[in-house]
Formats: sequence, structure tokens, C-alpha cells
Amino acid sequence: MQTLNVKHALAMQHQLDNSHTPQLDCQLILGHILNKTRSWLIAFDDYQLSAAEYADFISALNARRAGKPVAYIIGIQEFWSLEFSVTAATLIPRPDTELLVETILQQPSNDAATVIDLGTGSGAIAIAIASERPNYTVVATDRSAECLQVAKKNSQQLARNSVGFIQANWLNGFKASQFDIIVSNPPYIEIEDPHLGALCYEPTAALISPDDGLNDIKQIISAAPDYLKPNGMIIIEHGYNQQSQVTALMASSNFSRIKPLTDLNNQPRAVLAFM
Ligand SMILES: C[S@@+](CC[C@H](N)C(=O)[O-])C[C@H]1O[C@@H](n2cnc3c(N)ncnc32)[C@H](O)[C@@H]1O
Repeated sequence: MQTLNVKHALAMQHQLDNSHTPQLDCQLILGHILNKTRSWLIAFDDYQLSAAEYADFISALNARRAGKPVAYIIGIQEFWSLEFSVTAATLIPRPDTELLVETILQQPSNDAATVIDLGTGSGAIAIAIASERPNYTVVATDRSAECLQVAKKNSQQLARNSVGFIQANWLNGFKASQFDIIVSNPPYIEIEDPHLGALCYEPTAALISPDDGLNDIKQIISAAPDYLKPNGMIIIEHGYNQQSQVTALMASSNFSRIKPLTDLNNQPRAVLAFM
């Protein structure tokens, strides 16, 4: 069986012409297979891959060429500088979603707060908050049992197992007036959206929402006032063209201090508001 060394393997990045980051993809894939860091790959580029490592590398490279995201190939995605396990059941957490975490951490509250992350997926938002605010009580929900399994494992590894996970349909089943903060990155893509083709490896239940992508956002915003404490806050991520509707929905649910937020690329990304 043919084998090759690290240098030759990394040179195969030229095959990833469908990727914007072929070098990084190749390094992450090979580093995962060899269980080595990217700097090790550069320092020891004459390391000869075993036959099994070679076979794993070629099969991973083929999967990447077919369009599978690196995170699903290696089962890991970095978010808030933490390494989250991801599976086909979970959305790959996006850097844009860090805006929600950042905004919550900027709030002037040194007291213990109770936070709920609705539709937690891999647990990214809840775990990032719990890792920064050990004094907060953080609860996270998802409708998917598979997601909750992955999120629990991530909480054990990244947040001292401090996040409470509950299988639920949004806020159904929770006690009234118990949360200081409601945060959510719900499904918000409309069924006909042409961008969906590029997201075919991700679970549709995490992406699509009826009613122009707004059905889940509407459910959360209309229920939220009953579950927030006085002065409680809500922050919701939304699609690039949904900010004015989300702002209007918050106003009609009697939220105040409504603040539209943009992400690092200056795209409308989330709305923050208070009871
Ligand atoms: C866009 S993903 C966000 C995942 C994660 N919060 C993140 O930002 O990476 C939306 C999540 O909401 C969950 N979800 C969809 N409908 C739900 C519902 N009715 N109740 C609770 N969770 C739901 C999906 O399973 C999915 O994990």
C-alpha cells in the first residue's frame, strides 16, 4: 500500500479547490488523524504516515472534496476558543453567534443570574457563558435528544458539567418569571432559501423555520415575557434580512430598550431587548 509523509500529505491541499481555506482544512484533518497540533505538523513534516493513517487521510480528503464541512469530518468545531464536539445531529457553531455570548457578558451584572439557552445544539452558547460566569445558573434546552447528548458531553469537558440540559419545545414546561436572560439562535432560514444547498450536511431541524423563517422566532418572542423576571433580557439571533421584523415582534411583545446588533462583518445578526 502507498504511503506518504506529512509534507506530501499537506501538499494535497491543492485538491480542495472547493474550499476557501484548503491549507487550514488539510492541517486540521491531518492533525486530527495523527492526534497532533498544527505546529507539530510543520515541525515534523518528514513523519511518514502509517498505512492506516494514510487511508484515513485520503478518505477524509475525499469527504472534504465532496463538500463535507471539516467540523463534521473531525467531529470538532472551535467556538469561543473552546473545542466543541459536533455530530451530524448538531449545527456547527458559527463565529457570528459569539456576538450573543459577548453581549450577555457585557451586561452590568456581577450577581448570580439565571440564563436559558433555547435550542442549544452542541451547547455552544450555554457552555461559553457557563465557562465565563461560574456564578450564573445556566440551563439549555433542545427538542433533539441527540443534540442534548452531545451538549452534555461538551459541558462535562468544557464547563465542569455545570450546565443543566432539558429536552423541551422552546419554553414549554418551565415555571413563569424565572429567567434573567433568554438567549437563542433558533432555526430561521426559509424553506425556499437558495443558501440551503450549501448547508446540506447540517440538520434541517436546526436551520429551517416556516413562515418566512420566522415561525420559531415568533414563538420564542411571544412566550418570553411570561418566563422573564422584571428587567430580564432577551437576545435572539436572526437571518440577515429579518432584523426589522424581529425588532417589531419584540416591540409588540412589550419589550423595551430594543437594540439591533450587527456582527463582525457588519451584518444585522441579533436583537437585544429588556422587559
Ligand atoms: C440554529 S441551531 C442552533 C444551535 C446552537 N445554539 C448554536 O448556535 O450553534 C437551532 C437549534 O434549535 C433546536 N430546535 C429546533 N426547534 C426547536 C424547538 N421547537 N424547541 C427546542 N429546540 C428546537 C434544533 O434542534 C437546533 O439544535
